[in-house]
Amino acid sequence: LAPESAERLGAGEPVILTDDRGHQFLIHLTETGTFQFDRGTLPHAEVIGSPDGSVLATDKGARLVALRPRLVDYVLKMRRGPQVVYPKDAAAIVMYADIRPGSVVLEAGTGSAALTMSLIRAAGPAGRVVSVERRDDHAEHARRTIERALHGVPDNVQLRVGDVVDLVEEIQPDRIVLDLPEPWHVVRVAATGLVTGGVFCAFVPTVPQVQQLYDAFEETDAFFGAETFEVLQRTWNIKGRSVRPDHNMVGHTGFITIARRITPVGDPNLR
Ligand SMILES: C[S@@+](CC[C@H](N)C(=O)[O-])C[C@H]1O[C@@H](n2cnc3c(N)ncnc32)[C@H](O)[C@@H]1O
Repeated sequence: LAPESAERLGAGEPVILTDDRGHQFLIHLTETGTFQFDRGTLPHAEVIGSPDGSVLATDKGARLVALRPRLVDYVLKMRRGPQVVYPKDAAAIVMYADIRPGSVVLEAGTGSAALTMSLIRAAGPAGRVVSVERRDDHAEHARRTIERALHGVPDNVQLRVGDVVDLVEEIQPDRIVLDLPEPWHVVRVAATGLVTGGVFCAFVPTVPQVQQLYDAFEETDAFFGAETFEVLQRTWNIKGRSVRPDHNMVGHTGFITIARRITPVGDPNLR
């Protein structure tokens, strides 16, 4: 995802092509590449050097709008491995976990790196994102995704292979963001490894997982203000006089749980 300041679309960067039917295609521009679909072909060379937002034509005369993808476009169109965190949830996670410039974020599992890319943006160059994935194949896929999308792995990101439970003490993050099946194991190490005042955030799809998470908060007695919510996004169809909600929506993705680390009662000087 090229810097906004780059005026013309350039080789190596991703571009979304949209046709008159609204069909979208994510391509990565190369000097010699050609985009091909049922309405003709378009050499990448015709896209390279065009301004962002150019309207181009295939050899069969079909119109294609060429746009630099927003992160939301990229995440929904990129080749995925494990299930990604949807943009509606990623946006809420960034806000409620309070990921900001300078944050030290420990994230797991990296999965397809969709959420990782939102965290990288929010933490900024002054921050640090350590993203941990326990499966080698997922970690490799995530690394390639980040390299393609962000033109290399940014300096503020560390991609690690392993179990996040083993890294909390080493990293001493001020934010922990989890999208994995058993976040309660991390609660137990975060009770000492997450800095006090820090934010713990977990995304899980089912109610029993949320319950186990709260059991762990209670057991450790090191977390405060736990809250859980889900985010529903309903898109609308707007065509002339027909203005109504779309028939389909993403029904359920998962529950976001947020809690703050506090010092143990009577021991305010503990880290
Ligand atoms: C649903 S995916 C994460 C998707 C990711 N949030 C995204 O938006 O692309 C869950 C990942 O967590 C990894 N995982 C599960 N338990 C883990 C652990 N204890 N430490 C590190 N990674 C773990 C899995 O291998 C899997 O790749």
